[in-house]
Amino acid sequence: MSTQQQIVSAFKEHFSTTPKLFYSPGRINLIGEHIDYNDGFVMPAAIDKGIWFAVAANNTNKVNFVSVDLNDSYSIEIDKIEKNESWKNYVLGVLHVLQEKNISFGGFDCVFGGNLPVGAGLSSSAAVEGGLLFALNTIFSFGMNRIEMALLAQKAEHGYPGVNCGIMDQFASLNGQKDHVILLDCTSLEHKHFPLQLEKYNIVLINTKVHHSLASGEYNKRRKNCEDGFKLLKTRLSEAKSFRSISSKQVVEQKDLLDAKTFDRCLYVTEEIERTQLAGKLLEENNLVEFGKLMFQTHDGLSKLYEVSCDELDFLVDEARKHSSIIGSRLMGGGFGGCTINIIEKEKTDATVNEITAAYFKKFNVHPEVYITNTSNGTYEIV
Ligand code: GLA
Repeated sequence: MSTQQQIVSAFKEHFSTTPKLFYSPGRINLIGEHIDYNDGFVMPAAIDKGIWFAVAANNTNKVNFVSVDLNDSYSIEIDKIEKNESWKNYVLGVLHVLQEKNISFGGFDCVFGGNLPVGAGLSSSAAVEGGLLFALNTIFSFGMNRIEMALLAQKAEHGYPGVNCGIMDQFASLNGQKDHVILLDCTSLEHKHFPLQLEKYNIVLINTKVHHSLASGEYNKRRKNCEDGFKLLKTRLSEAKSFRSISSKQVVEQKDLLDAKTFDRCLYVTEEIERTQLAGKLLEENNLVEFGKLMFQTHDGLSKLYEVSCDELDFLVDEARKHSSIIGSRLMGGGFGGCTINIIEKEKTDATVNEITAAYFKKFNVHPEVYITNTSNGTYEIV
């Protein structure tokens, strides 16, 4: 975990060039999970935890990276970029997609690190990809807008890291606005920044400390499952263009067409698309209590139908249900570990969170981390 100051100091230690400084945030998602790649709607926001980048052109043909958090560094010549391992694939993946698009850049020095926990479902990978792309777009004047950058950063994640993610994380990190959530239509990328009026509530993330790894392949399997399910459903529902035009009722009617797992995945996806549309209306009416109930439903779907939860996440949500001060709770992000997102009454946040974390420790012998989260602007240059 590093601070902005540590990134600036580390740059001075390693390089003699003069850097520009950037901040690239992580994201939360209120509702709409695992449906960004199923033509659904999502409600993410950029948050006040993220990654700083200090970057300077160095007039050589070499790119030099220093990861302060991992205490590691890597250098390579521009024309020799290829797939590597671990964190390097996130930064090299960005350079690779730029080269694929024939967007040219020169050598540069780059130091990065921040306070965004890795593997906690807060999109540290998107923050790295989007942050580096934004920095290079500024330094080498590519002229890309934020939506183009989000799409390219998503492509970078599909490439070297090999995760066939949807657009939500990269879009939210680059396009967030402080005190707003983004209502994003993942098909058209039409979006609206909607004021988040939390008033007497906090958004609290509780980190199971179970390190999720999307690259483990389960994520890609879910995506493939949904694609296969949709193709089968389309054999009978020929008008359907995507999951958005199929109702959960129709999925139930076509149950005989699908094997048990595929049925569950398709049912979850269609239910979650319906839920997010309702959730959007409730948010516009500022009806957080009803909104919170939908979050619990989403968790049940993610756990039982989509099967991306784990004992630790289920435990935290079950504990949350016992507290009337928590109006909504669910696993957030890709799943298999990481954080739950909870909407908790401000006045009772400390007491509630203490009880839940104590119960978690008793059960798993691990102290979960707790982050009371604020929203932030999308990736920006610090001047
Ligand atoms: C990860 C992916 C996103 C999205 C979520 C689940 O964060 O990167 O595209 O699919 O999982 O909603």
